[in-house]
Amino acid sequence: MKKLVVLTGAGMSAESGISTFRDSNGLWEKYRIEEVASPIAWENDPETVMRFYNLRRKQLFEVHPNEGHKSLVSLEDKFDVQIITQNVDDLHERAGSSNVLHLHGELKKVRSTGYPELIYTLDNWELKIGDTCEKGHQLRPHIVWFGEGVPMMGKAAEIAEQADIFVVIGTSMAVYPAAGLISYVKQDVPKYYIDPKAFHVSGISNLKIISEKAGNGVPRLVNELLKND
Ligand code: APR
Repeated sequence: MKKLVVLTGAGMSAESGISTFRDSNGLWEKYRIEEVASPIAWENDPETVMRFYNLRRKQLFEVHPNEGHKSLVSLEDKFDVQIITQNVDDLHERAGSSNVLHLHGELKKVRSTGYPELIYTLDNWELKIGDTCEKGHQLRPHIVWFGEGVPMMGKAAEIAEQADIFVVIGTSMAVYPAAGLISYVKQDVPKYYIDPKAFHVSGISNLKIISEKAGNGVPRLVNELLKND
């Protein structure tokens, strides 16, 4: 089976009702990164950080996978599909995707501030000050904050290097190292970029631009790929 690797961003979940970050009315228009998504913010004011992620987690229990998420699952009949997502939501998994690698963490997981390897799944939306790990350390959101390392990047780069087809969906390609993944893909490999603001990424060849929303663009590409294979 051909290896089909998909890199997704916030635009993938936009039609499920989850805000993106940098579009008009996006999250970073309403919140300051320094106050809600950095280690400094956590140190200075953990309640504000906690509230930001609790609100997003609460919303996640109310939304559902969209046509874009669902159509990616149908590719698994004919391709070895690996999804690499920048998203912290679980909509790919809930749609039925088998292989999902989260680069920036997962909203429904929390981890120990004392022992980062102690990671737990929250079954409700609220994490509170005083919620501790089995060793008594405060729990924090299991999210990669700005200024923190991206532990899964090495694995993601390996997967990108093995791609026979590479698809980018709903990301501004503004945040590294995730945006650099496309440069690990072999030059002669067919690549697609589905996003209303998709652009020709410099130095990348064989890249087909599909200036559409995921809800339409992904099912259309999936049909094309299934038909041609
Ligand atoms: N379908 C497809 N793409 C869409 C849709 C849609 N319905 N709606 C918006 N988009 C596109 C926008 O055109 C934009 O290119 O989604 C992209 C969203 O870009 P960002 O808000 O920058 O989100 P993302 O690229 O995922 O951000 C990367 O930055 O804030 C951090 O850690 C956070 O993982 C995130 C990272």
